Parts: sequence; structure tokens; C-alpha cells
Amino acid sequence: MPQSLFSIWPDFGFSANPYNQETLTADAVGDELLVGRDSESARLQRLIGTDGSFPTVEGSIGVGKSSLLEVSAYRMRKACLNSPSGELYVPAVSRLQPGTDAESFEFDALRVIAQTLIRYADDFEQVGMFRPKVDELDRWLNASMFRHHEGGGQVLGVGANWGSGEDANTSEGYSRSGFPTAIRQLLEESFDGQRGGIVIILDNLELLETVGAARRSLDLLRDTVFNLPHVRWVLSGSRGIVSRARSERLSGVFQAPLVLRPLDDRQAVAAIQKRIESFGGPSAAAPVTPRGFAYLYQALNSNLRESLATAQQFAQWLHEEFVVSGRGVPSPEDCDAYLESWLLERAESAFADAGRVQARNWQFFEELCRADGRAGSSDWERFGFGVQQQMVGAVTQLSEVNLVSRETDPDDGTKTVNSVTPLGWLVYFFRSRFRFPAAREARS
Ligand SMILES: Nc1ncnc2c1ncn2[C@@H]1O[C@H](COP(=O)(O)OP(=O)(O)OP(=O)(O)O)[C@@H](O)[C@H]1O
Ligand SMILES: [Mg+2]
Repeated sequence: MPQSLFSIWPDFGFSANPYNQETLTADAVGDELLVGRDSESARLQRLIGTDGSFPTVEGSIGVGKSSLLEVSAYRMRKACLNSPSGELYVPAVSRLQPGTDAESFEFDALRVIAQTLIRYADDFEQVGMFRPKVDELDRWLNASMFRHHEGGGQVLGVGANWGSGEDANTSEGYSRSGFPTAIRQLLEESFDGQRGGIVIILDNLELLETVGAARRSLDLLRDTVFNLPHVRWVLSGSRGIVSRARSERLSGVFQAPLVLRPLDDRQAVAAIQKRIESFGGPSAAAPVTPRGFAYLYQALNSNLRESLATAQQFAQWLHEEFVVSGRGVPSPEDCDAYLESWLLERAESAFADAGRVQARNWQFFEELCRADGRAGSSDWERFGFGVQQQMVGAVTQLSEVNLVSRETDPDDGTKTVNSVTPLGWLVYFFRSRFRFPAAREARS
């Protein structure tokens, strides 16, 4: 993609933002940029490519779940194209997120499948299979806006009557037109007894908030989309929701999750190096150097997405201070030093904002950080509170100043889970520089 006229990156010698925090895509760029996940990716490819229950992935927010899945699906496609053997796996054109409405989910899933077959139709011939008959479908789906008043037509030779063009945009139109049956049949015909399929990521299961809601929603999809031929679903989610949503009924459909840990410091640095090499020209000067990124990644408790987003904000600041003002980009060593003080300043300002937080609550904050940054509202005793209400009060105070956040407990919608925010981790990282008030009344 050409850069915007307003982009800061050409000034640093980059063709694109090396700290982009968006999910890696199922293409050659994503393949190149994915670092440190080769064995996980190979394992997932085996799980996807083996029939039977579907693989699942679990890991904290921003750890790299969706990227790993997108790139793994791309690698399967690439391997099939590189050694044509009448087998083809292709990544779905987009990821799907769960919703409580099963009917519109089915509608979205079928549409994504149709668009995927259209996009990768030529691949089938390349691997020695027949090209799926998607041309009519393509016109119907992708040009329907312009054909509102045309009559219905029969496509695919499977007896589906597509009705008028506007049907392509509503779920009622789809079922009236026999779309679900037609897509099922198209999948069968396209793969025609050969191996392969469409890899679709069912992403962010935690959006359903509770384990019960996730179960209900997956249960509803069992007999509509999870049994589509030649579709390999991969389920992904954070906060333990995937493993807990696998009820007995669902354990035949979904496998136990592959748990994704954060990249270690060395891998995170390698990921940044890769981006700097890929997007940087010969005179590139990275505002956040690999060394600087290692520091940042530690300060933010190994949260990759947050580290990338913060690196981007720092770059913006550096650009303003040094490039716009005409001073020029500082040396790499100076960039590292500026990053350190810029981060400290953010932590200091957060600490100043938290001036009202009581000593006892600072003590709780520190203990929460040491306990991996997460605790349920029923854990009050573990943190030495005399009554639960005290912990609720502490969380309220800390969340008002953005150091801790509250979410619904996936196991019980009436409870909450409290976790340290990225800003909270930053304050914790610099805590030796701040004097938290002593908690004399501790263990009340
Ligand atoms: N293995 C990797 N190598 C390089 N960059 C990565 C890797 N994994 C993730 N990233 C980068 O980290 C960021 C977060 O990744 P991703 O969106 O895949 O995380 P996620 O676990 O799906 O997050 P969420 O829980 O919010 O959906 C993206 O910018 C992505 O490019
Ligand atoms: Mg994701």
C-alpha cells in the first residue's frame, strides 16, 4: 500500500509502520513477519489437516493468536501450491466472531465461504483439481447491488434459485434462494472427494463474556456450520474461556486448546528486527531500536500488541520533537535513552494521578501484580482483606486511575475478574522510583 502524504515513516526511512499492531495477514507479508512460532504453526497445520474435531487456541489478549492462525492457514495453502498433489487448504477471506444470534452467524459464515471459494478458485487448478464453478455466484454476490431489478437465475447447476439481486444481502434472501444448500453442495463439488478445505478462524470467543453463553452459542452452531463439508474451524479465545466452554457435548467437536505463551524477550526483539529489515530502506533509523523494544516489552509485562502500540506513540512523539522541529532523528543510543525517559514520564504522570490511592490499596496493587496481574472478586481473603467489600473498594479506586480493570468473570456472570492494565504494569515496572505510601493498617 502506498504511504499517505501525512505518514511519518518516510522521514524515518521506512516504507510502512514497523510497529503496526494489527493482526498479521494470511499472505506472504504475514508469513515473513511471524517470528518464533514455527513449532506451534507446524503443530496447528497438522491438527487442521487431520480430519475430526477442530483445533483450538487460547492465550492472553494480544499474545498473537489470530496472527498465528492466519499465517498457519496461509502456510498450508503455500505448501499445497508448492507440491501440487490434488490437496488444497485455503485461508478464509475473513475471521468470524461469535454472536448470540446463530442465524446471522450462519449467514456470515456461508458468505465468507462463498467469497473464499471465489478468491482462491484458480488455486484448485494449480494443484490439479477442477476449478469450482463460482463465476455466476461471484456476479450474484459481488455485483448484486447493481442488479436489483434483474430476474432470478439458476447458478451452479444445483437447482438453487438465487432470486433477485437484493437477496444477496439479507439472510432471508439467502435461505429463500437455497443458499445454504447450494454452498454445501458447492463445497462437496469443489473438493470432490479430495483432501483439503477452507480454514476459518472463529475468533475472540471471550466476547461472549461467560462460559455459559459461549457453550450455548457453540452448541447452536453444531448442526449448522460445524458440520459443513471441507470446512476446518479453528476456535480462538483468551482468559481460559475456550478450555472451560468445551462441555462434554462439545468436546467431540473441539479439541483441548493449544495454549499460546507470550514470545520471550529474544523473540520479541527478533520480531521487531524483522519488521525493521522488511520495511526499512538503507538509511532507515528506527525510533524504537531492537534494544529499546526489549526494554519496552519488559516494562509492559510482555504484552506484544501494547508494546507495538506504545512504540508507535513514542515514534510519533520523537517525530514531533526532533523531525518537525528540524533537529533530525537522534542516534540509536539517544533514541533508547529518550524512550526510557518518555516511559518513565508516563509512569510518573499515572502515579501522580493516583495520588488519592490509599496505602492499603497500593499494597494490594503490588500483590496483584505479583500474582500475575489477575484475581477474581472472590479472592479477597488471599489478599489479606477482612471483608470482600474492602477489595471491591480497592479495585474501584485503582480502576478510577486506570491501573486495574474489571471484567465479567467468565465462570460466573455475577462476579468480576480484576486485572492490571498496561498502564498499571508500567507503574509497577518503575515502582522502585516511586515511594508508595506505607500500608500501616495492612491485614486489617
Ligand atoms: N509471532 C509473531 N511475530 C511477530 N509479530 C507478532 C507475532 N504474533 C503477534 N504479532 C503481532 O502482535 C500483535 C498482536 O497479535 P494478534 O492480533 O495476533 O494477537 P491476538 O492474540 O489475536 O490478540 P487479541 O486477543 O486481542 O485478539 C499484532 O501486531 C501482530 O502483528
Ligand atoms: Mg485476535
